[in-house]
Amino acid sequence: MALGRTVEVTVPATSANLGPGFDTLGLALSVYDTLLVTELPAGELDIEVSGSGAEEIPRDESNLIVRTIAHVYADVARPMPGLRIVAENGVPHGRGLGSSGAAVTAGILAAKGLLDGDVEIDDTDMLRLATEIEGHPDNVAPALFGGLTIAWMGDRGPQHKKLLVHRGVSPLVLVPAYTMSTSAARSLQPPQVSTADAVFNVSRSALLIAALMQSPELLLDATADRLHQDYRAGAMPETQRLVQALRAAGFAAVVSGAGPSVLVLADGPGSRQDAVELAAATTDTPWDALLLAVDVRGGTVGTRAEGST
Ligand code: HSE
Repeated sequence: MALGRTVEVTVPATSANLGPGFDTLGLALSVYDTLLVTELPAGELDIEVSGSGAEEIPRDESNLIVRTIAHVYADVARPMPGLRIVAENGVPHGRGLGSSGAAVTAGILAAKGLLDGDVEIDDTDMLRLATEIEGHPDNVAPALFGGLTIAWMGDRGPQHKKLLVHRGVSPLVLVPAYTMSTSAARSLQPPQVSTADAVFNVSRSALLIAALMQSPELLLDATADRLHQDYRAGAMPETQRLVQALRAAGFAAVVSGAGPSVLVLADGPGSRQDAVELAAATTDTPWDALLLAVDVRGGTVGTRAEGST
């Protein structure tokens, strides 16, 4: 079989919303999907997946990474090659840690690497292309660029600003065995909210930037939300119970993305263990505790030396 270029891609998990920053704020976290993507003759497709969600991930043209690569090739008017994809998924699947955003980001970076030298795809193009597939930019922005990101839909399409997080902020993610679909969670959102609730979230979102960058002691107040978590609570009651118990104990706990995982933004590595113990004592659901760091790099792509695959 004639093999073309191989690229190696790494993409971090992400936690979107961070409480008040619905569809806007996102944080890249130190657990990763890794992939090798090799060009094959047109029409050939060979996909191997291991790790989280491997049994549910399609191995045909409907695969999200393949669809994303095809979207990029169509955008730059290049013929789609055949592909071999070997993926190892470290990002928990369907748990509110950006697994679909990671797949989309992986596809964007793989296409960028495969097209390198022929077509230049810059950061703005990558965010636009990723958002066209994902629908909202708050996971794909930190997955692409790392750190804390503010993403918004501007007149010229999706935009982002990357910020660095205070080193005292220590993320903990509590992952349950059950899953939650983002589209199901989004269907629970009301079409309109009150001005009072909008003002509540505007104030907390503004405060959250200060808390994450300079003043971690403000994280509990800064992570309060009235725009999404309560509307979705009935679909994941154990998640809501844990968020409430952690917040009552003073931890800045929020639903991670559309759930069902819980993100705790602890103000130091030591206090994370107390949160893990409280989680074990609070609900009947077991929680897998991921003690993570903020990923400051974002997704990466590199070309594999020939003959090394
Ligand atoms: N902002 C999104 C939501 C994140 O909460 O619906 C999930 O992908």
